[in-house]
Amino acid sequence: MAYFTAMFGAAILLGFINLLMAKEDTCDLYATPGQSLTLPFAYERLTNSHILRWVHNNKTIFYRKGKVSTGKPEDITSNGSLVLKKILFSSQGIYQVHVLHPNSTSAKTWTRRLCVLDKVSKPQLSYTCDFSSMAVNLNCHVTKPEGLVFSWTLDKETLKSETKQTLSISFIDLKAERSFTCDVANKISKASSDKVWPTCPPLLSFKRQTVMAVLAGGGGLILFLLFVIVGLCCLLRRNKSQTGPRDKGELRIWRVKREKAGKTTPLCQTQT
Ligand SMILES: *[C@@H]1O[C@H](CO)[C@@H](O)[C@H](O)[C@H]1NC(C)=O
Ligand SMILES: *[C@@H]1O[C@H](CO)[C@@H](O)[C@H](O)[C@H]1NC(C)=O
Ligand SMILES: *[C@@H]1O[C@H](CO)[C@@H](O)[C@H](O)[C@H]1NC(C)=O
Repeated sequence: MAYFTAMFGAAILLGFINLLMAKEDTCDLYATPGQSLTLPFAYERLTNSHILRWVHNNKTIFYRKGKVSTGKPEDITSNGSLVLKKILFSSQGIYQVHVLHPNSTSAKTWTRRLCVLDKVSKPQLSYTCDFSSMAVNLNCHVTKPEGLVFSWTLDKETLKSETKQTLSISFIDLKAERSFTCDVANKISKASSDKVWPTCPPLLSFKRQTVMAVLAGGGGLILFLLFVIVGLCCLLRRNKSQTGPRDKGELRIWRVKREKAGKTTPLCQTQT
């Protein structure tokens, strides 16, 4: 009984810790370095007689009471929003705004957490053929996989249950040749790998085999024809040189012909 109580207590404690951690991790707003962002706060009835204060990580970055004493007037819209012109990693954290009536009672408060993330870069998809398990192992390579969401596409269909960085597909499930892509995403961006067609030897589909056979056959035929042509050409030349010129006039013409021919058909060098 004591054991169960302890377990129950531990489970609750763990759950509570998880909840705290999750809260710590989640942000209300996301941005990437270099972009500009107007924090989505608005107090439409804002007038110049209101007291407006913006706080970033417990530090006052804007204060207006009649006149602006901290920050710049152009950093605030007419609604009281704060404009972050060029986001840096140091821009992240908690933003709070306090609007006070002229009689110093609170008119509106607002708190949001901003996270600044790099855009994801294009993942590199690679695979290995594992013959012991008869499966293709695909790997969606990225430099920093922390906090990224992975997804997989087979042909044009998203594999809903596959959300890990790696994917294993048995040879049996790949009877025909099929294409894979992997996607990575974070809160602000998404990128896809190039398409990959895994071809472990047992995966060579009928289609590909035929294509290869046709290609190989065609290549062979062309090569064969080339040999025949070259052979015939050389044979003809040799015959010609054997039945060479008879008189001097003929010889001159023949030489010119030879020179021209020699330049254009270097494959058929025959000895004179
Ligand atoms: C802001 O102040 C609160 C309470 O004083 C503190 O718990 C919190 O850690 C501070 N936050 C930052 C970012 O300094
Ligand atoms: C003021 O707020 C309204 C409604 O939220 C919005 O449509 C408008 O663009 C805001 N104006 C400025 C200058 O931020
Ligand atoms: C302060 O001013 C606001 C707006 O003018 C008003 O609604 C509120 O009742 C006032 N509060 C006090 C305590 O006078």
